[in-house]
Amino acid sequence: MQAVKDLPKELDVCIEKLSNLGYGIAKHNGFVIFVTDVAPGDKVRIRIVKKNKNFAHAIVLELLSPSPYRVKPFCPLQKVCGACQLQFIDYNYQLKLKKDIVADAVRSICGAEIEIRDVIPSPKQIQYRHKIQYPVSETKSSIRAGYYKTGTHELVNIKYCPIQPTYCDEIIEFIRQNAKKCGISGYNETEHSGLLRHIVIRTSSLNQKSLVILVVNAEGVRAEFIELARKIYTEIDNIAGVGINYNVRKTNLILGEKTEILEGDGFIEEKLCDRVFKVGAKTFFQVNPYTADNIFRYVKEYISNHSQNSVLLDAYAGITAFGICMADVAKKVVSVEEVKESVALADVIVRENKIKNVELHNKDAAEFFESELKKRKKGYDITILDPPRKGCTEKSLDYALQLTKEKIIYVSCNPATLARDLKYLIAQGCRVEFIQPFDMFPHTYHVESVAVINL
Ligand SMILES: C[S@@+](CC[C@H](N)C(=O)[O-])C[C@H]1O[C@@H](n2cnc3c(N)ncnc32)[C@H](O)[C@@H]1O
Repeated sequence: MQAVKDLPKELDVCIEKLSNLGYGIAKHNGFVIFVTDVAPGDKVRIRIVKKNKNFAHAIVLELLSPSPYRVKPFCPLQKVCGACQLQFIDYNYQLKLKKDIVADAVRSICGAEIEIRDVIPSPKQIQYRHKIQYPVSETKSSIRAGYYKTGTHELVNIKYCPIQPTYCDEIIEFIRQNAKKCGISGYNETEHSGLLRHIVIRTSSLNQKSLVILVVNAEGVRAEFIELARKIYTEIDNIAGVGINYNVRKTNLILGEKTEILEGDGFIEEKLCDRVFKVGAKTFFQVNPYTADNIFRYVKEYISNHSQNSVLLDAYAGITAFGICMADVAKKVVSVEEVKESVALADVIVRENKIKNVELHNKDAAEFFESELKKRKKGYDITILDPPRKGCTEKSLDYALQLTKEKIIYVSCNPATLARDLKYLIAQGCRVEFIQPFDMFPHTYHVESVAVINL
């Protein structure tokens, strides 16, 4: 392999594949270079912008010969907005690249031979995003709202985003036009001044109703917030509710601890596996409800084909979407989730639907596993693990193994932590039956996976 000191500043390379973070990978005499905004098959002249011992980062100076998989991006802002990194790549080829990303993670981190199935596409490739979180800033005369340019905190004022339903653009434009009139300034991140930090919208694919949350740099309600909330609720069609979230911290976390609903309801409704769920401001729910529904149906079909009358554990449950969807093919479902609001909304669904075999626990998963183990080992036929991006701890995986008789179904949004956790489970004697990836975020490098693990 070439030494980093001998790497020329500018060079011509061919892009071989995509990394798990969406960078193109090129090699120069064996030395790995990550290149931004390229597709596999591109021949490009690049400039090295950062060198490490074993790899470098580069930007494109010139596209010498384009990949056959390049297409014209459908969004005019694709190059400046950081949200859809792969929009200039043919959709079917994006699916192949995502399968490769999962396969590479499994090969390099897990080291085992595992069947990885073709990625199941998103039923919608535009207007699929039903959760929008726009940072807000201001100029002298107006409010700006949109995504940040990749790797910066430079805001792109987005008037139209083809990835989300168009009525969300209209809601955001209404807030742009009316916030200052109500006396609400936009946030200045550098000076930690100004009021409106973020606009968060959760919108339903079931009835197109939206919950609008204004995240403000303030500690309590003010007349200005009440006025803007009222205007949004009364002057825009199909608003389920308007809330204020208070966040005065100097942090990248979008939501603060406290949310107050000023108008309407604090939730929207979504349908999954023919059941209607309630989704609130702070509850986890997949941003793409169409692919989410595919995943829940897929797991339900797998469970009903492979285990009759089983006792299920739904861990990292959110609003217990897995557990409640599986309730009619299981003997009993027990779920655990640490966010109180999610468990409260799950409880409403369970009661409204008179579901008798679902038991909800508002606890840290590991703590709950430990207390369950004190009662009995192998109390569950199947455990569904759907942890956040960082994956599970070894301790939680050990607990899950001791609690489960037959299978663990591991749902993951991060191929790297999935591969790490599978490696651990294989070392404890498990066999991974297959991994089924799903496209939850078309035009980005993200990929969701369902892994079935036999104990
Ligand atoms: C990827 S989401 C999955 C949610 C749900 N299964 C779904 O599909 O809608 C992960 C969930 O785990 C919860 N969570 C994170 N850490 C947790 C912990 N230590 N104990 C219990 N729940 C946790 C989060 O609040 C979130 O709801």
